[in-house]
Amino acid sequence: MTDFNQILGIETSCDETAAAVVVAAQTVRSSVVSSQIELHARYGGVVPEIASRAHVELLTPVVAQAIVEAGIENADVDAVAATYGPGLVGSLLVGVSAAKALALVWDVPFVGVNHLEAHLYASFLEEPTLELPLMVLLVSGGHTMLVNMKGHGDYEIIGSTLDDAAGEAYDKVARYLGLGYPGGPILDELSLQGDPTAIAFPRAMKNDGYDFSFSGLKTSVVNHVRKNPDVEAADVAASFQEAVADVLVTKARRAAREYGSKGICIGGGVAANSRLREAVLDACVADDLQAFLPSRSMCTDNAAMVAAAGWHRLHSDGPSRIDLGANPSLSL
Ligand code: KG4
Ligand code: ZN
Repeated sequence: MTDFNQILGIETSCDETAAAVVVAAQTVRSSVVSSQIELHARYGGVVPEIASRAHVELLTPVVAQAIVEAGIENADVDAVAATYGPGLVGSLLVGVSAAKALALVWDVPFVGVNHLEAHLYASFLEEPTLELPLMVLLVSGGHTMLVNMKGHGDYEIIGSTLDDAAGEAYDKVARYLGLGYPGGPILDELSLQGDPTAIAFPRAMKNDGYDFSFSGLKTSVVNHVRKNPDVEAADVAASFQEAVADVLVTKARRAAREYGSKGICIGGGVAANSRLREAVLDACVADDLQAFLPSRSMCTDNAAMVAAAGWHRLHSDGPSRIDLGANPSLSL
């Protein structure tokens, strides 16, 4: 098969309109992310209709910018990859339709990418020599799962959330505290001034299997603030963050031991969290495991990870059919 080396990646699954040019899943030539946060902030969360309309407006200029910043011409693109699920259906359709149209016009293959697989490949993009098997903690606004990555394209989900995703818990707690959207970065920053041991929030299912539950923690934060209206918001933030990191890392560490992983790596927006990053590093040092923490911009949604996952998919399975549709509930 021809080497489809230079891949244009497109990501529109939620509220980031992103495009990137990546060579051989290793060299990021450009990565443009246009965030819609300001459009959604006043509603306290992503409004699907607003998101898809914004993708329609932003995608063409974002793709053009990715091509220009990569220093290439349209004709240099060897294949076009786009996220086709999971995510918001209207948003996904914008990226998938654009990618298929570009692939047809440029006469190059189109490849549909699973957004969760793309988050897994964010780490390999920055550290291609990562050794397998790896225990991957995938923590985003929509998902929280522990994945035993045995080989490229060979995954086993060993645990996932039974209710809220970790990022969703961050967003809901921040909204309740009146701090704004998205909650993760705001609570992360606020925690720096708080005491993580101030409030002993519950650690649901910490020593019980590999599934997660965060809705009780969120309720516990709400109840604590109701009963103690003068509590310092920074102490609530730091104690909440500590509880989330404690559960995530305790389980990832136990799983890595049980599955004989060479290391632990993290992905998804919550992987940008300072306390979680520190706790993963500490655990890996203590257990003599490799730790890999992708840069923060590679943790949150971007199209470089989509191009990287697309490159792997093209080389393992070949191009996707041109009638591939969006799949909002696609699983790994
Ligand atoms: O992966 P992502 O960009 O989009 C999804 O695929 O969901 O993740 C977004 C989530 C949001 O819930 C956001 O609050 C959270 O990641 N997040 C963080 C941090 N940065 C983003 N959570 C905790 N700490 C952060 N620094
Ligand atoms: Zn994501």
